Order: sequence, then structure tokens, then C-alpha cells
Amino acid sequence: MKDTIDRLRIDGAERIASAKNETEIETLRTALLGRKGEVTSLLRGLKDVADADRPKMGAELNKLKVELGALFDTRLADLAGEGQADGPALDLTLPGTPPTGAGTNHPLLSVLESVCDIFYGMGFSRGEGPEVELDYYNFTALNFPDDHPARDIQDTFYIDPKVCLRTQTSPVQVRTMEQTEPPLAMIFPGRVYRNENADASHSSEFYQIEGLVVDKAVSLTDLKDTIDIFVRNFFGADEPTRFRPHYFPFTEPSVEVDMQCVACRGKGCGICGQTGWLEIMGAGMVHPNVFKAAGYPDDKYTGFAFGMGIDRVAMLKYGIGDIRLLYENDLRFLNQFRGVL
Ligand code: DAH
Repeated sequence: MKDTIDRLRIDGAERIASAKNETEIETLRTALLGRKGEVTSLLRGLKDVADADRPKMGAELNKLKVELGALFDTRLADLAGEGQADGPALDLTLPGTPPTGAGTNHPLLSVLESVCDIFYGMGFSRGEGPEVELDYYNFTALNFPDDHPARDIQDTFYIDPKVCLRTQTSPVQVRTMEQTEPPLAMIFPGRVYRNENADASHSSEFYQIEGLVVDKAVSLTDLKDTIDIFVRNFFGADEPTRFRPHYFPFTEPSVEVDMQCVACRGKGCGICGQTGWLEIMGAGMVHPNVFKAAGYPDDKYTGFAFGMGIDRVAMLKYGIGDIRLLYENDLRFLNQFRGVL
């Protein structure tokens, strides 16, 4: 019997060590220590052992029972620990969950930067000017007559009679020309303010990009080419553009630039008011009075300028129906642009 006990001690320990899960352990526990288990049968067989050996064998068997019981418990604890650390539930090759808490650029800022990138590609550089602006730069230097309706308190937020929140990025043209000799090709992105009631297409703050090119013999054709290259790059397709005569105090001639409607491709729809065209910016040849305000010599240079609403082109490109969505910062809206822009 001694041999059987020794064999069971070694053999039992090995079998317990190779049990792979709780079910296997419990099956093995029954096979060794259960009512009909191997150790239990040996205990029952004690009655057949010689009287002299019986107490010793009994003690050995009880010791084995305790040892095996402890091995079972240890193995169970080990298996539970393995499950947490590197058990089959954790597959390191699966893609992780992307972090959602990280910040990203606001879609307007992304659009603004992608518009700038297109102009950098054409050799433009970037400048900026103040949002709190002198009435002089916002209007007077841009050839606005004193009684021009845009100066009206209805449209402009005045801080005092000579200082306002700029209503357009055009004042940066004059500030830049005062400091820079031609040739120059520059863009001036930034925020502008108007005293408007907010609705789906108006906001009291929005973004514009101003463009200015001045050199000897710059022509309207250069303006048309520049705009076409921008439209093709930004909207992706070969969209036709057209110039419509218009009036701005600081350009002569002045035009409004339309592109073919991105929604209906010129057929006419609700978005383009059935015209097939969408207005995307104002533009023109720099007015001689503006050159004069900037201190440029008469008749030496010509230039073109343009100004476009970033909000507007963003809304057209991404099908955004209400400008207020761009300023409310509702994450349900903003998150749609995550990773897209
Ligand atoms: N400043 C004009 C506006 O806010 C837009 C504009 C039109 C800018 C014509 C220009 C331009 O530079 O040439 O409505």
C-alpha cells in the first residue's frame, strides 16, 4: 500500500498541475478525493492492512489527502490569476478602442487651413490684422464714402466713434500695403463681426479670407485664373465659375464670383435658389484710391483683391444647412468631422 500512496502523491500532483480549467480540476478532485475516488478507496482498504501497519498507513493516507487538497486549491487560484493577466479573453492582436476624449480642430479652422494651403500652393503668403479696428482702415482707407450704409450703426459694432469690430478682412489690405512694397501676393484669414440677427445664414461673427495681389500689370484674367484654381482644388471637381458685375467701394471694376451649384450641377435647385449658381466671393481690381491710402505711387501698380466667407464655403462643401451649427459647439455636430477634415 505504501507504494500506491507514493505513486498517487507524484502522479496526483502532476495531474493537478496539468488541469487546464476549473471543470477539469473539479473532475479530478472527484476522481481522487470523491466518495469513490482513488484516495477514498485506499482509506476503505485500510481494514485489510496488517494490524501493525494500519496506523502508519492511515496517517500517510490522511497526509496525502490534505496535500492533494492544498494542491487543488493552489491550482484553482493560479488559473483565476492567469485568466486576468493573459488568459484567452485578451487578444492583443485586436485593434484597440480609439480614444474619444482627445481634442481636434474645429471644422471651421480645418476648412480655413485647407483654403490657405491652396493659396500657399500658388505662392501666396499669409498675414493678419486686428479684429478691433480703426474706422479709418475698415472704411475710409477702403474708399467707403462717409454716408455709405455699411458704416451704419445697424451693421457695425462700434466701440467708440473711431474704433469698431472689423466688419470685413479688407482693412488688412491697406495695413499690409503700408508696410510692404510690391510685388505681393498675400492672404489674410480672420474673424469679422456684424450687427446681424442670427438665422440659418447669418451670424454676428464669421470668418473671411481676404486675398491681395499687387504687381506691375496684374489683370482681371489673373484674378479669374486664381479663383478657378482655388475652386477646382477646394471643391474637387472642374466646376465652372462666372463673374457678375457688382459694386464694392474698394475695387473697380468689382465682381461677384459664382460657381456652378455643387448640389444640382447647374440645373437649379433649392440650394441655389433655382439659378444653378452659388455666390462664393466678392472680388475686383484694387481701386486707385486704396493704393493712394496705402501710399503707393500713382499708375505704377495694378492689383486684384478678393474676399470670401469661410463659413459659406464650408457650408457648401459639407452640406451644412445652418451657420449657427458652426458656433454652437454641439459635439453631436462637431464629431461628424472627426477624422474627415
Ligand atoms: N469685403 C467684402 C465683404 O465683406 C468682400 C470683398 C469684396 C473683399 C471684394 C474684396 C473684394 O477684397 O475685392 O463683403
